Amino acid sequence: MRDPRGIIVVTDPTYVDELYIGKNKFFDKADKDKDTYYQWFGDSIFLSRSDQHWHQSRKHLSAAFYKDKMNLLLRTIMSVTNDRVQQWRSTFAQPSQVQDGPGHAEMSLTKEISDMLVDSMLGSVFGMRSVNHTLTLGYYGEMFDVTLGRYMKIIGGRFFSRIYHPLRQLFDMFDRWNLNADEKENWDNLERLRAFVKKMINDRKELLQGGNGQAAQGKFDFLTQLLDDSFFIGAATQTSSVLFTNVLYFLLKNPEAKEKCLNEIKTKLLPHLPPGTDLTKDTTWHQLMLSEETVDSCPYLLQCIYETLRIDSSATVSTALKVTETVEIKDKMIRSDSKILINMQRLHLNPQQWQEPHRFIPDRFNPESPYYLTPAVQR
Ligand code: HEM
Repeated sequence: MRDPRGIIVVTDPTYVDELYIGKNKFFDKADKDKDTYYQWFGDSIFLSRSDQHWHQSRKHLSAAFYKDKMNLLLRTIMSVTNDRVQQWRSTFAQPSQVQDGPGHAEMSLTKEISDMLVDSMLGSVFGMRSVNHTLTLGYYGEMFDVTLGRYMKIIGGRFFSRIYHPLRQLFDMFDRWNLNADEKENWDNLERLRAFVKKMINDRKELLQGGNGQAAQGKFDFLTQLLDDSFFIGAATQTSSVLFTNVLYFLLKNPEAKEKCLNEIKTKLLPHLPPGTDLTKDTTWHQLMLSEETVDSCPYLLQCIYETLRIDSSATVSTALKVTETVEIKDKMIRSDSKILINMQRLHLNPQQWQEPHRFIPDRFNPESPYYLTPAVQR
């Protein structure tokens, strides 16, 4: 990101701690980012000011994730995932006989995983199961029907190209306008997605209201809060789909780590099931994964996920922030109205923090490993 007025890029973890833990009420999204992202997300929690409304929205959201609700959401997510895995097994796991037909051994991981996560979200929030929703996408002058996961990936990518257009990097006046037919086309795509989500919310609300027109108590806040905010579906699904595909990539590139994960699942997780249990059934996974005994049974797998997030994060830089009043961050005085950007990628590869930062070493998240320490032998 360029900024003609200059921008402070934070790459030291101690400054990030102080910013987010002690001083977060002194910053908001920078105006330029607010303007450009507003077109996509509208009145989102992501863009709202650090005021009372901001505080209340976040409080409502955290209150929505109580234990029973989480269990219900997780059950749905496991069932949707299991459906997908069974689908992949029958479509992709057979020896290839026919090109592009059933049994063709190639799959687009990004598309499949993105679709699976969108399905999980639709399943857990709207109660829709195993529906392959499609939407009509305008793609450089042509129209295609594509799955929702794919739809979001494509329009997201095109939206970022819009943000990083050189004219917008240099001048603010273009932030709210479409510069050409491609941008207008993606804008129409976005409108179609919004209309689709709006319709799902309204259908769901009607269903919850029941025949007598009375709102179902307690269910609305959560739904409205979450889904009227068009940032949420993208934030929840696209970041996670990048993480999933990256984890698979790093495990394939590091066969030792992959073996260790498989071994952990075979020796520590699966033995909790009675012999002969059917692994294709949803109930098997509900029983296995929601049991307190198995919660921490695969620490190495978790370390591989952390290491993937470190080495190739789904989000590499933050959006730009604006300091709302002059504030002291550790030993530095930051003037009111300065802009700040957190460079997560740089933090994650900082050679003062991580030994051999460019190598995939899941053990750096294991407190018993020498890699757990910084190069200066600290933690
Ligand atoms: C690997 C997964 C994820 C990563 C790496 C990730 C990363 C991030 C980052 C870096 C931000 C700050 C963006 C900025 O201000 O510039 C953010 C904000 C946010 N994310 Fe995620 N995210 C992930 C998953 C999710 C999921 C699953 C959800 C929802 C269920 C979610 C909801 C949000 C929300 C609501 C915000 C805005 C928070 C606020 O401003 O108060 N994210 N995420």
